[in-house]
Amino acid sequence: MSAPALSTGVKPPLVQSGEYIFGDTPTFRQILQQIDLVAPTNYSVIIYGESGSGKEAIAQEIHKRSKRKGKPFVAIDCGALSKELAGSELFGHEKGSFTGALNQKIGSFELANSGTIFLDEVANLSYDIQVSLLRVVQERKMRRVGGTKDIELDVRIIIASNEKLWDATRKGKFREDLYHRFNEFSIDVPPLRQRPDDIMLFANHFLQQTNAELGKYVTRYSAEVESIFKSYVWYGNLRELKNVIKRATLLTDGEQVEASSLPFEISHFNKLQFDKQPEPAAVHTVPNTIDDLTETPRTISETTLKGASIDAEYEMILRALKKVNFNKSKAAKLLNIDRKTLYNKMKQYQEFNNQ
Ligand SMILES: Nc1ncnc2c1ncn2[C@@H]1O[C@H](COP(=O)(O)OP(=O)(O)OP(=O)(O)O)[C@@H](O)[C@H]1O
Ligand SMILES: [Mg+2]
Repeated sequence: MSAPALSTGVKPPLVQSGEYIFGDTPTFRQILQQIDLVAPTNYSVIIYGESGSGKEAIAQEIHKRSKRKGKPFVAIDCGALSKELAGSELFGHEKGSFTGALNQKIGSFELANSGTIFLDEVANLSYDIQVSLLRVVQERKMRRVGGTKDIELDVRIIIASNEKLWDATRKGKFREDLYHRFNEFSIDVPPLRQRPDDIMLFANHFLQQTNAELGKYVTRYSAEVESIFKSYVWYGNLRELKNVIKRATLLTDGEQVEASSLPFEISHFNKLQFDKQPEPAAVHTVPNTIDDLTETPRTISETTLKGASIDAEYEMILRALKKVNFNKSKAAKLLNIDRKTLYNKMKQYQEFNNQ
């Protein structure tokens, strides 16, 4: 299926390589400039950015624009590696080197030999593994777990972190010597909410991708959806946007995505903001029961007792708000609390869930 023509006021991309897009906007131009500068070198690169902001996409672009293009690119999520198995995942092991090592295993570094390794969330590696990593970086050699011979490595290392590694060294979480080895060049990827020019560019790109995946022909977003996209905070950055679009495209029958196909918290995001204290408001007459509200409650965080009770209150408040079309005074009356308490409770909920 050919990609549909999208109605968009967004500038065309500078590069659209496979599934990634690098648009002609100030943030992208700056990132691409840095990629172009560092790609041909052998420098280690640290990519900083919030979760889902596109760090791995940038690492891949560096690899593609380097002399190592065509050689392996191996990405490892260090946050997902258990302390026990991290060594064997990264450096491999010899058969019988520990209980459970039934066969020889080639680790990620060896798989990436002559190419690039991308270590995501590197600050999560244990101190022991950081020591082994330092040896690899310094001597360009490694040994498999239980192995006796050194293996020469020619691997370019790109790492990513959502906290500044210098801060992690201050907290004793990350070795300072390793930090200095890695810190040859760094790229900061801003969160999506600080890239308003890029939001619709990504939104249209993800729409095209989803159309191709689902065999659909959704071509545009309503003006309301566009305005919601631009004002929402996108805590999960590109990954969250992509998921929202996948869901909305599936729910859309016609050619245009409407706000009703967005998750409730996103389509009503502005109405659910309680960071400002209320202004005095006129008193309204409203029903004083919420017994007849029938919507399914949504559970957001019940991992602690405090979380569970905050969630339960949020559910009640949300249902009351929906019932009175988001009039906060009416909702407070319905819940038999004053408006200030309503604001404080919503603020508490938002702070608790953004921790
Ligand atoms: N330039 C881009 N063009 C198109 N899609 C992109 C681009 N950058 C990222 N994406 C998509 O956004 C999602 C998140 O990107 P990516 O995995 O690179 O983020 P990340 O910062 O590495 O996330 P995490 O912190 O969770 O590891 C992925 O689905 C990816 O395909
Ligand atoms: Mg990643």
